[in-house]
Order: sequence, then C-alpha cells, then structure tokens
Amino acid sequence: MAQTMDMSAPPAEDPGAFLVCAYAAKEATKKTKKAKLYVPQIDCDVKAGKIINPEFIAKCPPGCQDVKHRVYGTDIYASFSSVCNAAIHSGIIDNAGGKILVQKVAGHSGYRGTFSNGVRSLSLPRWRESFLVSEPKKPEQDLKATKRADPPNASEKTSEQDCKVDLSFLMDGSWSIGKRRFQLQKQFLSNVAQALGIGSAGPLMGIVQYGDDPSTEFNLKTYANSKDLRNAIEKIPQKGGLSNVGKALSFVNKNFFLDANGNRGGAPNVVVVMVDGWPTDQVEEASRLARESGINIFFVTIEAAAESEKQNVIEPNFVDKAVCRTNGFYSINVPSWFSLHKVVQPLVKRVCDTDRLVCSKTCLNSADIGFVIDGSSSVGTSNFRTVLQFVANISKEFEISDTDTRIGAVQYTYEQRLEFSFDKYSTKQDVLSAIKRISYWSGGTSTGAAITYASEQLFSKSKPNKRKIMILITDGRSYDDVRVPAMAAHQNGVIAYSIGVAWAAQDELEAIATDPDKEHSFFVDEFDNLYRFVNQLIQNICTEFNSQPRN
Ligand SMILES: *[C@@H]1O[C@H](CO)[C@@H](O)[C@H](O)[C@H]1NC(C)=O
Ligand SMILES: *[C@@H]1O[C@H](CO)[C@@H](O)[C@H](O)[C@H]1NC(C)=O
Repeated sequence: MAQTMDMSAPPAEDPGAFLVCAYAAKEATKKTKKAKLYVPQIDCDVKAGKIINPEFIAKCPPGCQDVKHRVYGTDIYASFSSVCNAAIHSGIIDNAGGKILVQKVAGHSGYRGTFSNGVRSLSLPRWRESFLVSEPKKPEQDLKATKRADPPNASEKTSEQDCKVDLSFLMDGSWSIGKRRFQLQKQFLSNVAQALGIGSAGPLMGIVQYGDDPSTEFNLKTYANSKDLRNAIEKIPQKGGLSNVGKALSFVNKNFFLDANGNRGGAPNVVVVMVDGWPTDQVEEASRLARESGINIFFVTIEAAAESEKQNVIEPNFVDKAVCRTNGFYSINVPSWFSLHKVVQPLVKRVCDTDRLVCSKTCLNSADIGFVIDGSSSVGTSNFRTVLQFVANISKEFEISDTDTRIGAVQYTYEQRLEFSFDKYSTKQDVLSAIKRISYWSGGTSTGAAITYASEQLFSKSKPNKRKIMILITDGRSYDDVRVPAMAAHQNGVIAYSIGVAWAAQDELEAIATDPDKEHSFFVDEFDNLYRFVNQLIQNICTEFNSQPRN
C-alpha cells in the first residue's frame, strides 16, 4: 500500500490534508526486520475528498465532535464529510481521537443523515465519491496484507495512478468484420485493459458492442481489475448486423455514463469507437450531442475505405465529424486488423492524457458565474426575495464544486458589497443557502460602479480555465455610466448577461450585455415573471459555449 500512495499532487488549497508519509518503506529492510508504522495526524476539518489516496490510515486528534465539522451520510459517507467526525459518527473512535482506516468507494445518491454516537450527520442527494471508516488492523498484519496486495506488475500500478478516466469502448460486432478479425479486436481490448491497469482509483472501462443495435457488455463498475475484465472480454460473442455507429453513440450518451453504472463524476468520460471500414449510419448529430454532454470521442478506424470504395461511404469525413477535436489527437487509423496491436500503447497514452481531454468541459461545469444584484430601494423586500429565488434557480442548473462551476455574488446600491466570492463555497447546497441568506440592502442604483466592483472583486480572481460569466439583474436606470465599465469587463473576457425588470432601461441593458445583445439581454415587465427566463438563460449560456470553434 505504501508504494501506491501518490505523493506528487497534494491539493494545493489544503496543505493540512496532505498525508506526509504513511509507511517508511525503508524501515522494512533494516536488520531488525521490524517495520514501523508512521501514521499522520489529520485535522478535524479535513474532508476525505481532499486526500487523494484511495485508502489510508490516519490519526484523529481529540475534540473533533463538533457540528461545524459536517458529516453527510450514515455508514457510507460522502467524501465531502469531515473524516474524523464521520469516524466518531460511525463509532470507530470517540471524541478522544485515535487511529482510523479510511477507504474510498464510489459516489452514489441518497446519503442518509442520522444521529449516532453524539453526532448528527446530514442527508445529501448525491455526491461523486464516498468513503468508509473502520479500525486499522495491527501494524504487522497490515504490512503483510500490503505485501500480498502489491500488484505483480509495476507498470500496471503506475498507469493506474496517473489515469483516472471513465472509458467506454464501442466494439464493432458487425458481420462485415468476420470471426477472425472479431477475435483480434477482443485481443486488442484485452491488451488495452492490461496496459491501462484497471482499478477503482485509476481507469475504469466498460464495453458496448454494436451491430444493428448497441448493447452494453459491461459497464464501468462490472469489473474493477484488469484480470477479471480480460477474462470477460474473452467470452464476448459476436452480435452481427450492420455497423450502426451513430445509434451506438446515442445509446452511450443516454445510457452508459450514469452514476448507477459507476460513472465517477470527477473522472473524464471517454468513448473509443472501433470501426471496421465505415459506419452504416450517420454519426454527426449523435456525436455532437455526446460531445455536448462532455464525452471525449476517439475513433480507431481499421481497414478504411479504399479509393474504389469511397462512393459507398455514407457520410464522408465521418471521423472528423465525430471526434472531440479534429487535430489528429482523437483519431487513429490502422491499415489492417493484423497491425492493430501496435496502437495499444499510443491509444492508452492518449486516453490517459487527461489535460488534453478538452471535451470533458461542458457549459454546466466550467464557468465562474458572478451575479450582480440590484438591491436598490425601488426593488422592495418581497421582489428582492424573488430575485434571490431566480439567482438560486439559475445556480441549481450548474454542476457546482471547486473544480466545476463556481458561483459568486455582489449586491449593489450606491455602494457595493461582496456577498460571497467564487472560492467561498464548493457545493451546490452551500451556494444555495448562501444565496438565501443575502439580506436586502436598499439604497440607490449605481450599476456602472457595480460592474467595475464585480470585475475587481469577483472576476479578477477567476481561474484561467473557467469561463467568466456575469449575470446582472436590475430594475431601474443607473445613476452612473454603465458603458465604460461594461466595455472594460467585456475586454477582460467577461461574458455579460443583463436582466432588466420593470423600469430598467433598454439602452443600458444592451450596453451591459455582450454582443449579440438579443441573446445576452432580457427584459421582463414584472418580478413575478422572472422565473420564465431561467431556462432561456441557461440555454443561451450553453448555446454560446457549444458554438465555440471545435479546433
Ligand atoms: C506485466 O505486464 C506485461 C505487459 O503488460 C505482461 O506481459 C506480463 O505478463 C506482466 N507480468 C505479470 C507478472 O503479470
Ligand atoms: C424558482 O423555482 C421554483 C421551483 O421550481 C419555482 O416555483 C419558482 O417560481 C422559481 N422562481 C424564480 C424566480 O425563478
């Protein structure tokens, strides 16, 4: 176990959570043969999700039993919970602290809150990772267990750590391929599984076979190691039929990457399509939808159409129409099934190059959204509540976490107030309750100054890989100029949406909004009709995101 711990990438925000050294491997080689176990102490507020190790022993200090160290779930806890307080909730330690063994498991839906051992845990509808707490075994036993658990193959272990992706292979089962080549395809998939080193902390791989229709052979959680997966691949029978790749891509988009099938949320989704020759249906539309769901599509084409066969190809350039990017990274062409084995390593390297899996970004998971909220006297207390509901309803649509979409908010009158910055909350639940807590200010309306303030206090702290989106809501004409501040914001890469209610001035709304105005500015006659624009606004944000060039 010691060797599988990844020491290279502690989460930067939380140095306290980094396990310094669980085992001193060298100790084992000392003459005494007495291995010593070092157990790092973690603070009460450390959440399991901040520790990258899939399994670790740690020591909790005394006094972690405190409501401020939130715990979500019962027996199985969302990794967003305090590790030590969860250990108290589960009865493994008490408030005096002590050693615990933590094991990460898949996320799921419906964490149940209960009162147990003096700790009230909370419910959570869904989270991407969970953990279990138990008593650590005695050190000696533990080291033996470690030895036994060592994978025999060092290369397998390395790739497992570096490559956390959720993979789906679309296997060509059409009749055109023949028995012999189908066997070569299985051999290829088996080699890929071996080279990847399948494991719950690394890559997971499922297979869908397509012919006339697609069907799932295994999903992401069916096999959690390469050996079992390889055995199962060996037993896949050929389906037969046509080569309906478009249909298969639609199927994968709708059915494969579900949490219930082992999709891990934090891991990029990758589809590798194996095609003998060319597809017998259209792929363009199905691929576009799959890409918009954040799926990175790769194609491996084998024995492509010869010059004389090209007139038979249903959709010319189907590879370019389907893959995530047309820069060559996402497609591999192999002249013959008999040379397929040569692309095992290149393919594995590419699907594991997670920084380049750009299609994982979607309109819902990659923005910093700053709300700029008019708190002037003309709005009134009750309408202000409606505005906050509107802000909450929009926020709800996004995937919120510190690595996905983040939300910030500013309220303004004559003056401006930072309600919360992008890095303040990292769950949807916390963001929604923070929005609810915003208190109505009441005063004048300096919208221009508010835009400048939002640029300085919110967007200047946006991460470079996030899209900066400003959503400004106002009910009247500004006392100051909005044009200059808005233009400055646009020039700094802020995509601005303006929502005007009642007495808001059309010319100002348009000046604030990014071009084209009609897609970025909205006017609604009364606050009670704001709700009608939630869907429209989300749709426009996503349309704009998806219309960016693909290359
Ligand atoms: C290690 O991996 C190689 C290539 O992936 C494989 O051929 C070999 O059998 C593996 N060794 C063991 C002990 O499993
Ligand atoms: C927010 O969503 C709730 C629940 O769907 C709805 O009842 C309410 O009208 C919405 N309000 C606004 C302002 O969007």
